Amino acid sequence: MTIIAPSILSADFADLKNEIKRLDEAKADMIHLDIMDSHFVPNLTFGPAIVKAIRPYTKLPFDVHLMVSDPDSLIACFANAGADIITVHAEACPHLDKTLTEIRRLGCKAGVSLNPSTPEDVLEYVLDKVDQILVMSVNPGFGGQKFIPAQLEKITRIKKMIDTRNIMIEVDGGINALSAAEAVAAGADILVAGTAVFEGGDYAGNIAALRQN
Ligand code: DX5
Ligand code: ZN
Repeated sequence: MTIIAPSILSADFADLKNEIKRLDEAKADMIHLDIMDSHFVPNLTFGPAIVKAIRPYTKLPFDVHLMVSDPDSLIACFANAGADIITVHAEACPHLDKTLTEIRRLGCKAGVSLNPSTPEDVLEYVLDKVDQILVMSVNPGFGGQKFIPAQLEKITRIKKMIDTRNIMIEVDGGINALSAAEAVAAGADILVAGTAVFEGGDYAGNIAALRQN
């Protein structure tokens, strides 16, 4: 069954504690936390103090997506704040192998994310150090953007590259009922969704609508 990871970028930031509880009750599978530094991406969100503050309100895994220029300086802070999975951008990691090793050493699952223009080749020599590959299907920075269909081919190529390895493929950006089906058909295991989960307020119904078999 497809794993649904709601992004709290679309949540009510003034009521995060209850938003987390609502997502848990609505049968989310994990909570996706978008960390932006206004440098790697043109937006600024929140840091480890907020992650730590909301950690007690669900047992669901915290999927931390670091859209920051210097992830190496931050991974320990997010591991300590309660992250279960820490994903870094390949574009921001000159020593990706080392960064992934460090994430696992801190007891978290290690993820690599690729911007839409980044080819999948950068993953080739780190496949034994990765638990999750995050394909950005929009240019990171903001919710509510349109899914970029060219990423479907990238998902298929990565799926082939992974072969029998135990690595999940996650897709993030512009996920709705249609793009969810296409992403899963291409090989995605995890769908991140902000707008599509929060719009209208029926989180359970929205999550169920995104889940493919
Ligand atoms: C975009 C973030 C996404 C975003 C998805 O930079 O990484 O997680 O919140 O939002 P939607 O689902 O609205 O595209
Ligand atoms: Zn994200």
